[in-house]
Amino acid sequence: MRFDMKTMIVVVLMVFMLRHCNGLGLNMNYYLMSCPMAEFMIKNSVNSALRADPTLAAGLIRMHFHDCWIQGCDASVLLDSTSDNTAEKDSPANLSLRGYEVIDNAKKLVENMCPGVVSCADIVAMAARDAVIFAGGPVYDIPKGRKDGTRSKIEDTRNLPSPTFNTSELINMFKQHGFSVQEMVALSGGHTLGVARCSSFKNRLKNFDSTNDVDPSIDKQFVKTLTKTCNAGDNAEQPFDSSRNMFDNDYYNALQRQAGVLFSDQTLMTDLTTRQIVNGYAGFNQARFFFDFQQAMVKMGLLDVKETGEVRQNCHKIN
Ligand SMILES: *[C@@H]1O[C@H](CO)[C@@H](O)[C@H](O)[C@H]1NC(C)=O
Ligand SMILES: *[C@@H]1O[C@H](CO)[C@@H](O)[C@H](O)[C@H]1NC(C)=O
Repeated sequence: MRFDMKTMIVVVLMVFMLRHCNGLGLNMNYYLMSCPMAEFMIKNSVNSALRADPTLAAGLIRMHFHDCWIQGCDASVLLDSTSDNTAEKDSPANLSLRGYEVIDNAKKLVENMCPGVVSCADIVAMAARDAVIFAGGPVYDIPKGRKDGTRSKIEDTRNLPSPTFNTSELINMFKQHGFSVQEMVALSGGHTLGVARCSSFKNRLKNFDSTNDVDPSIDKQFVKTLTKTCNAGDNAEQPFDSSRNMFDNDYYNALQRQAGVLFSDQTLMTDLTTRQIVNGYAGFNQARFFFDFQQAMVKMGLLDVKETGEVRQNCHKIN
């Protein structure tokens, strides 16, 4: 009887470990022994920052995306420029990157508790996940165990998707990183949070240092909204959807109404390949969006992760 009990416990443990490991060195319980409170402390710290400023949620998700897209999820996005290196951070593509101080605060807490254990890359990934949950999005777990990278170069940021991309350019770029068309459309749903600046969509309008005609894919009434925003200058902000701090599927509803803010948003509805997927996430289909989004986020969080390397003491510089 006692032996059977033991065997059962071992079997249960093994099943648990298998379920929570993904073949990489990363796993769901990576800090279970080395810093058991890490995830909880980071979540608390992120949540209190978001209570003070809910608009940071979009910034944290965007930061994770930028980090993973360039050189893998290795916190290269956090490194400061030095006298002989201009970092990713100082690229014009950084415009909407916000929330560095949220990561710094979380890092301070875990460094006090367990010095040198929790990587900046993991904190960025956890903060993005916590931001999704805080804003009302899907609740999910992510593998941990990323190490921090040592390379951060401005020229690498050329490989970020541009707001002027059409569907085939988006599909191609996401494919290069191993994402399907469906995953690309689901990840674009991250735009359910946050804003775009006029400078990234004024080329779709008339009379803002371009001779273009108005982009015909924009709803007539929405042209007026965007124009009004741009009348306030290049840095004026336009929310991607009507609930900028709420993680929901309203982004896709906006696309259906031809009220996507960026060309690279509306193109998902214009193009036949992706329109069906947009329709599959809009309206009453929020649960499907949530499911696909969380899966795609976990996958993105594993892009070119480093299993060996350093855990930075200070997220702004290599050790
Ligand atoms: C973004 O890059 C610009 C230079 O293009 C730089 O002046 C600015 O400090 C950077 N912003 C952040 C938040 O790092
Ligand atoms: C998308 O953009 C690329 C590059 O500018 C162009 O070659 C292609 O024809 C465009 N595709 C569509 C469907 O407009």
